[in-house]
Amino acid sequence: MEHTNLIKATLVSEQQIKQRIAELGKQITADYKGRRPIVIGVLKGAWIYLADLLREVDLDVDVDFMSVSSYGSGTSTSGTITIVKDLSVDVTGRDVLIVEDIVDSGLTLARLKDLMRDRNAKSVEISTLLSKPSRRKVEVDVKYIGFEIPDEFVIGYGLDFDEKYRTLRDICVLAEEAYK
Ligand code: IMP
Repeated sequence: MEHTNLIKATLVSEQQIKQRIAELGKQITADYKGRRPIVIGVLKGAWIYLADLLREVDLDVDVDFMSVSSYGSGTSTSGTITIVKDLSVDVTGRDVLIVEDIVDSGLTLARLKDLMRDRNAKSVEISTLLSKPSRRKVEVDVKYIGFEIPDEFVIGYGLDFDEKYRTLRDICVLAEEAYK
């Protein structure tokens, strides 16, 4: 792959991700036993995580996607969230599980959680593969977290920098030269 010299280090390996997702899948299976949640993947970053997570979940689920934009081509949040693609299912009275790649400021998920409540979902929970707790601007309750990571810009396993690096198998730290 081009630009691999801009990868500083591997933060979470493919093997670690696989193992953690299996644990989260078991937990979600147990928690939602007898129910059929709507699992909402937040595009684009969450699609690889969602695909791997759901194959570890032994439940009937409905899957849908939303696309929201909060980042341009840089590495810091703009603070406003725009719905680029909305759901095609009605969440009224349903158990909703939002699946996200990473929680940074928390603004995206706080907004999405409110939106699902406004649309009268019965319950709303969140799973994120990664969380950067030190970057939070708003508190958001995330029930299923893969890994808490330090304040570094990460790429791979669905996460991009300027639309690149999504298909790296490991989660890696982007070298600062890439954006400074
Ligand atoms: P938040 O609204 O600030 O929590 O931002 C969440 C979104 O920002 C994620 O869905 C990602 O698209 C993006 N993001 C935040 N940190 C990173 C990172 O380290 N790498 C890639 N994308 C990131």
